[in-house]
Amino acid sequence: MAGKERNVKVKIDNVVKKFNTRKGEMTALNGVDLDILENEFVSVVGPSGCGKSTLLNIIAGLSEATSGKVYCDGHEVKGTGTERGVVFQQYALFPWLTVKKNVEFGLGIKGINKEEASEIAMKYIRMVDLEDFANHYPKELSGGMKQRVAIARAYAVNPSVLLMDEPFGALDAQTRTQLQEELLHTWEKEKKTCFFITHDVDEAIILAQRVVIMSARPGRIKEIVDVDIPYPRNQETKLTQEYIEIKNHIWKQVYQEYLEVRK
Ligand SMILES: Nc1ncnc2c1ncn2[C@@H]1O[C@H](COP(=O)(O)OP(=O)(O)O)[C@@H](O)[C@H]1O
Ligand SMILES: [Mg+2]
Repeated sequence: MAGKERNVKVKIDNVVKKFNTRKGEMTALNGVDLDILENEFVSVVGPSGCGKSTLLNIIAGLSEATSGKVYCDGHEVKGTGTERGVVFQQYALFPWLTVKKNVEFGLGIKGINKEEASEIAMKYIRMVDLEDFANHYPKELSGGMKQRVAIARAYAVNPSVLLMDEPFGALDAQTRTQLQEELLHTWEKEKKTCFFITHDVDEAIILAQRVVIMSARPGRIKEIVDVDIPYPRNQETKLTQEYIEIKNHIWKQVYQEYLEVRK
């Protein structure tokens, strides 16, 4: 990015999160610092229970840090906001609404009139290739299609940051690869700031400009790895020498943390 000044979009400043459990206080995040740059795609990997979702929920404003702060565009995050869109692993669609109504839902909340909402919804439904299913209900769709609707819905409200928590985690390998490519294409076009959690090292690398590796609980950032592989990327990128080197490195780091968890 030589010569280009890039703004910090999301600033995570010494975030600590403690939970009160039946066994007493448990530290889930132990001082996390991270600057996510404007238009950047950051992936986060780490063993189960290391606090990835906890961190995403704090950035989303769905949960409050015990100490430390998160800023978005320089403003302290104090709750949810339409500039931060979230996609979860479970599709979280309204079962009683059609695909189109699901995608329009957030637009209504933003105060956009019906006609315009309809146009915007169809634009994003086309983006995820579901035009023929606009009037179908979620129960009539496969898992991959439902997740496409969730992505269209997140994009439709035009957030400047997309927070995704293992969005493809419940999908079969082929659908998952397909959605990774779609997300890549979308990001290459729209360049929204993305914070993408996954436990799949390949998925983390193929999508991101930087991969954040978290340590086993209590979660901290162990290492941040630059993925200096040019876009556009596709599945063949995985065959390149640079990719393989990055993958080996990240995989070793993550594996060490898995071993920590099993101790
Ligand atoms: N609401 C909660 N109350 C108590 N403990 C929680 C809560 N949410 C998460 N935890 C605990 O915090 C740790 C981190 O959880 P989480 O962020 O979901 O991890 P990850 O997403 O990396 O798998 C886990 O040990 C989990 O059990
Ligand atoms: Mg999680």
